[in-house]
This record gives sequence, structure tokens and C-alpha cells, in this order.
Amino acid sequence: MIEVEGLTKRYGSHLAIDDISFSVAKGEILGFLGPNGAGKTTTMRILTCFFPATGGSARVAGYDCFEDSMEVRRRIGYLPENVPLYVDMKVDEYLSFVAGVKGVDAGATADRVARTMHECGLEDVSGRIIGQLSKGYRQRVGLAQALVADPEILILDEPTIGLDPNQIRDIRKLIGELAGARTVILCSHILPEISMVCGRVVIINKGRLVAIDTPENLARQLHHAATIFVRVAGPAEDVVAALGGIPGVREVEVEATHGDGANGYVVAVDEGADVRRAIPPVIVEHGWDLEEIRAREASLEDVFVELVTSEVAA
Ligand SMILES: Nc1ncnc2c1ncn2[C@@H]1O[C@H](COP(=O)(O)OP(=O)(O)OP(=O)(O)O)[C@@H](O)[C@H]1O
Ligand SMILES: [Mg+2]
Repeated sequence: MIEVEGLTKRYGSHLAIDDISFSVAKGEILGFLGPNGAGKTTTMRILTCFFPATGGSARVAGYDCFEDSMEVRRRIGYLPENVPLYVDMKVDEYLSFVAGVKGVDAGATADRVARTMHECGLEDVSGRIIGQLSKGYRQRVGLAQALVADPEILILDEPTIGLDPNQIRDIRKLIGELAGARTVILCSHILPEISMVCGRVVIINKGRLVAIDTPENLARQLHHAATIFVRVAGPAEDVVAALGGIPGVREVEVEATHGDGANGYVVAVDEGADVRRAIPPVIVEHGWDLEEIRAREASLEDVFVELVTSEVAA
């Protein structure tokens, strides 16, 4: 549905994105993850035909974003990072107006607007002036304007910024529900948001693509993905020393102290070492209680930190 090849964008002499390639299948939710200034918004602006790339190509539904921008625009709903809204209009008027501009049939407009307001939780404020809404509700109106023409593709640039935790949960749920019916690109630097709703993730840093895979595979590929969590009732220093003495253990960190004297330990393990079976006998030997032992999977956050910091170091 979306194909990006060797995309490059310069602002003057500044290379904002550098030879980025990826594709998004129909019905997929792709996460676009990167720190501030990585080039997320720049990439989305090219896809939404806001400005042309300096090099490479971007195609949406088979249409070139530069050559056939009208065809591309017709298929995309875009929530930009700063939503430009007509602050003097009422919510329902504004959404009807946007529907008209985007070519929704006059006969179908009322139904589309009502449906979109329902999806975005705007029914209670449909008659309110946009400029008088809270930031979170304005963000919802932004999402609604992206959805109102029922586009095949949705591009959302930081959709949950400025929302309260309840609204964040609602919007994420809404984005999740859009999967299948629509193709979605979700830009964010909020990791849980991406791992929660996206099937696949692109990680970019300083304009370059550093990884593309499912959140699970990315976590698995991580260099030291093998970590074991144990909870032991015993003197922390001695436990750290005993665990650290097990062959294959690279590092032991005290994670959490509990009231009952059982501390949590994060045990980093060399790849391939069978440390899990070696731990219980050591604990028993010292007369301590083993309260919990489990493999701790690397999170997308670990991957992100590893990839982005190793890039910086390189
Ligand atoms: N119009 C512009 N003119 C010059 N440089 C720009 C312009 N827009 C962005 N840049 C630069 O290009 C780089 C990428 O910016 P971009 O806005 O795409 O990053 P981003 O990943 O969206 O970051 P954020 O998470 O902060 O939104 C940054 O170094 C930024 O300063
Ligand atoms: Mg941005």
C-alpha cells in the first residue's frame, strides 16, 4: 500500500532523512519510532505530499507522492503533529466542511460526520466552538478530521500528545480498532504506545533507518536479550555475590526491595548459557528462599535505547 525507496530530504545543507526504504502492507499498523529530530515528521510530510523529497521515491496505492499528489491525497487522512484547526467553527460544522473539501458526497456527509464524532468521542461537544475546547478534545477533533472522509490510509503524527491518561487509552484503542480496515502509520517516541498497537516498527535515528521488524523480533535480536529475574529472601550483598559466581552470569543488579526482605535481582546472562537451572541449587545451598524466577524479555524500550545509543557511539 505504501512503498518508500531510498528517500532523502535535505533542508539546505542539513540532511534530515537519508536513504530510507520501507513498505507498509494493506491493513497493517506500522510504528514509526525515533527520538526528537530523527526525521519522522519530515518523512510523513513527504508521504502526504506536503513537500517533495530531495531524492528517492514514495508511492501510495501505486501513485507517486510527487507526480500524482491528488490521487495520493484522496486516499490519506493525516493528523499532523500540530493540528491546524478552524478555531471559530463548531465541531460538527468543521467536520462537515472538511468532508466537503475531501470530496465526501453531500448526501453522505451527515452520516460520516456523525459516525466519526462517535468514533472519536466527540458527540458531547459537537456544537461547541473548537477554539474553546480543551487541548485533548482539540486533538480528538484533529483525529476526526483525518478520519471523516473514511480514508484507506491514516498517517498519525504523535496522536496522543497532550492527552490525559484516559484519553490516551481511548485513542490507542481506537487506533487498534482501525487495524485491518485501514492502513496506518503511527509516529511516536512513546515506546509503549508503539508496542501496544503496531504489528511492525521502523526505528529511525538522525535520518537513518536503524531497524525494521516486529516488536517481538526486535526484542529477540537484541544483543543481550537473555535476562533472568529472580526474587530471593536473603542478604542482598551475599545474594549478588552468589549469583554473580554462577558460570554464564554477566551481571547482577538489585532491582526492587520488598518489605518482607525478598529482593528482586536482574541477572544478565551470556547468550546460550543455561543459567536458569543453575540458580535454584545455589540459592538453596545458602539457605535462602527462592520466591520467584522467570525469564525477563527485552522490551522495545531496551531495543530502542540499544540501537539509538550504539548509533550515537558509532
Ligand atoms: N522546515 C525545516 N527547515 C529546516 N530544517 C528542518 C525543517 N523541518 C525539520 N528540520 C530538521 O530536520 C530534522 C528532522 O526533523 P523532523 O521534524 O522530521 O523530526 P521528528 O522525528 O519529527 O522529531 P520530533 O520527535 O521532535 O517531532 C531535524 O534536525 C529538524 O531540525
Ligand atoms: Mg515530529
